[in-house]
Amino acid sequence: MATINDNYLKLKAGYLFPEIARRVNTFAADNPDASIIRLGIGDVTEPLPAACRQAMIQAVEEMGDRTTFKGYGPEQGYTWLREKIAAQDFQARGADIDASEIFISDGSKCDTGNILEIFGHNNTIAVTDPVYPVYVDTNVMAGNTGAVNDQGEYAGLVYLPISAENNFTAEIPSQKVDLIYLCFPNNPTGAVATKAHLQAWVDYAKANNSIIFFDAAYEAYITDPNIPHSIYEIPGAREVAIEFRSFSKNAGFTGTRCALTVIPKTLTAKAADGADVELWKLWNRRQSTKFNGVSYIVQKGAEAVYSADGQSQIQTLVNFYLENAKIIRQQLTTAGLQVYGGVNAPYVWVKTPNGISSWEFFDKLLQTVNVVGTPGSGFGAAGEGYFRISAFNSRENVETAMERITTRLSL
Ligand code: MLT
Repeated sequence: MATINDNYLKLKAGYLFPEIARRVNTFAADNPDASIIRLGIGDVTEPLPAACRQAMIQAVEEMGDRTTFKGYGPEQGYTWLREKIAAQDFQARGADIDASEIFISDGSKCDTGNILEIFGHNNTIAVTDPVYPVYVDTNVMAGNTGAVNDQGEYAGLVYLPISAENNFTAEIPSQKVDLIYLCFPNNPTGAVATKAHLQAWVDYAKANNSIIFFDAAYEAYITDPNIPHSIYEIPGAREVAIEFRSFSKNAGFTGTRCALTVIPKTLTAKAADGADVELWKLWNRRQSTKFNGVSYIVQKGAEAVYSADGQSQIQTLVNFYLENAKIIRQQLTTAGLQVYGGVNAPYVWVKTPNGISSWEFFDKLLQTVNVVGTPGSGFGAAGEGYFRISAFNSRENVETAMERITTRLSL
C-alpha cells in the first residue's frame, strides 16, 4: 500500500497566505459590495520595467527564428546573466563572489525550501520568531522537526525571538546551532541588520561550524548607505553563508519568476564519515538533476535589470513602493498606532491596539474598513499582537486604505 510523507500531517492547517485568502474570499462572498483592499501578501502590483519587457520581447523573437532559437539552457543559468549579477550585485559592493558561484532559479521561496535536500536531518536549526513561514514549514516537510505545540512552535527547532526590545534582530544564541535562517531586510518586521550584527553572526557561524541561510530578497529596499546588502560584504562570510536573492521585489518578477542563490566554492559541511564536502558541488548536482533552468526569455528580462535603463527603472519601482510604505507609516502613526519597519523595507510592522490579538485585528480591519493585512501571529508565536501591512499596491489603494483606517476605524 502506498504511504505518505507523514511529516506533512504535522503542518498547521494551511500555509499562511492561502489561509488569509480563504478568509477574505468568504468575507467577499458574504459582502459582495465591499471594496476590499489587499495589503496582505507581498505581491507586486506595478508593471514590469520597460527595459525588461523589451528584452523579453526581443528574446521571444529570437525563439521564433531557428538560427537564434534556444532549447535547454544551462541548469545553473546563462553565463551572461550570472556575470552581470556577480559584477554589479556583489563585486561592486566589495563582495568577492564569482559568476560560477551563482545559480539562477525560479524563486527564493523554492530555493530556501529545496536547499534542505543537500543537508542532513541531524542538524540543529534556528529560526527567528516571527519568521517567513516557508523556512519553518519546509523543515517540517523534510522531517527536521517534531510535533507542533499550542503556541505553533515545532519541537526540534530553536526559536530566536525578535521584538522591539532587540530592534527585531535576534541575539546570538548561547547554544550551538548548525543551520541559521536570517532574512534582511526582514520579512515580516521590516528591520535591517548592521554590519556589526552580521559580523557577529558570521563570527558565531565560524566558531560553531554553522551555516547561515541569508535571505536578501528585499535588499533593493535598503535606503541607509551603512546597511549591507549582501552577507558577503562581511569578512569571513564566504566560509559560512548561502545567500538567496530575487528579481520579484526589485523588478516586479513575482509572476515572471527569476531568482538566484549564491553558494561560494569555499563553503563546506561534513559528510557522515567526517569529510568536508563542497556544498556548491552538491547543489550543482541537485539542480542539474531536478531543474532545467529558468526560461531564456525570462533570463533575458532579468539581464536587462543590469542595463543603465533597467537600473534606473527598478529604482523608480522601489522608490514607488517605499513611498507607499512612508504613507502607511505616517498615517498609522497619526492614528495612534506604534509602527516599525517600512524605511528600508516594503513591510510595516504594526503593534495591534489595546492588546488585541493579531487575528482579532485582522477581522476588525477586514470587517469595518475592508482592508486586508497579515496577522503577525501567522509568522510565529512572538508575532502575536502585531500585524504586517505590505506596501506593494497602487498609490490609490494605499491612500484609500489609510484614509479608511484613520477616519473609520475606532482604535
Ligand atoms: C510575503 O507576503 O511574505 C511574500 O509573499 C513572501 C514571498 O515572496 O513569498
